[in-house]
Amino acid sequence: MKRMLLAGMLLLLATSMMFAGGKAESAPGKGMVGVVMPTRSEERWNKDGAAVKSGLEALGYKVDLQFSDDDIPTQVRQIEDLITKRAQVLVIASIDGVALSDVLAKAAEQKIPVIAYDRLIMKSPHVDYYLSFDNYAVGQQMGDILIKGMNLDNPAKKPLMIELFGGSPDDNNAYKFYDGAIDRLQPYFDNGTLKIGSGQKGMDTVGTLRWSNELAMSRMENLLSAYYTNQTLDGILSPYDPISLSTLEACKAVGYGSADKPLPVVGGQDCIVASCKSILAGEQYATVLKDTRVLGQATVELVDTILRGEVPAGLDTTSYANDSIKDGKPYIVPSVLLESVIVTKDNLKAEVVDTGYHTAAELGL
Ligand code: BGC
Repeated sequence: MKRMLLAGMLLLLATSMMFAGGKAESAPGKGMVGVVMPTRSEERWNKDGAAVKSGLEALGYKVDLQFSDDDIPTQVRQIEDLITKRAQVLVIASIDGVALSDVLAKAAEQKIPVIAYDRLIMKSPHVDYYLSFDNYAVGQQMGDILIKGMNLDNPAKKPLMIELFGGSPDDNNAYKFYDGAIDRLQPYFDNGTLKIGSGQKGMDTVGTLRWSNELAMSRMENLLSAYYTNQTLDGILSPYDPISLSTLEACKAVGYGSADKPLPVVGGQDCIVASCKSILAGEQYATVLKDTRVLGQATVELVDTILRGEVPAGLDTTSYANDSIKDGKPYIVPSVLLESVIVTKDNLKAEVVDTGYHTAAELGL
């Protein structure tokens, strides 16, 4: 009798555990979210991936986080796998913004919402949301950095010489950054304060495939030997911290960095540890901080809103057309656009260390 009772109780317990287990799995909103980042080899995407993963896990979601080694077929395969594994939402930072149309059509067939993360995915109506910083404004900050750092409103000589570097031509952001920067610098070209020593301009000419700092360095070496043997370079437009550091290296290699031949003024983007150290050492002049924790948190909130079956409110529906047609009209992807911050030696401690973006120890302080 006792044994039967015990068996009965165990059965009851097992049934209720099964019930609880089944209930947990089908509870609304708590499933697996697929997150795909372009590469592990850049500091920012590791931070982005970690921020999104930990935020979603804290809300009880499972996260399958993939890094694509900057290889387009790998990224496509990873997204296909996540569709097969029945991800409930896909969060994708693309490598090539136009290479995902087919795989996103498959996601749409399975009714999986897609969020383009940081980089807009182009030529597909199956991008439900875009989460990023205001990239044109980021570009304007890149221009503002040079206006202040080169003292363009009160120049020591005229013209001051500059070279322009753009980001990867397959990344929509790169055009926004470039256009925003030129928007700010154009008046100084027009009034003769600034001059491009090589004359090279436009994303077709100055873009840097896959944001490669090696490519940027060799282009800088060529520019220095072709155009700067009889004049000095005063500034560099750089869209990305590793490009800032490698172009500065190329300048140092030909004698810049002394009192009579100072390093050119160069900004950057992403606020990576090495650039913070360089800024503190007085070499790189500034960078643009796009706080990956804030972007990660905004992503977590958007995913959670979608999976709770609610409609996200307050999105920007005018800024980001993605070269596709939806419901017979050019499609503008509903976007969340965050604000970025210029970081120089003066505010680095307050904006970077005190906020915990990088620790004092990481920066060697
Ligand atoms: C991002 C930048 C990053 C660059 C290179 C861009 O799409 O917005 O923050 O520096 O890619 O990874």
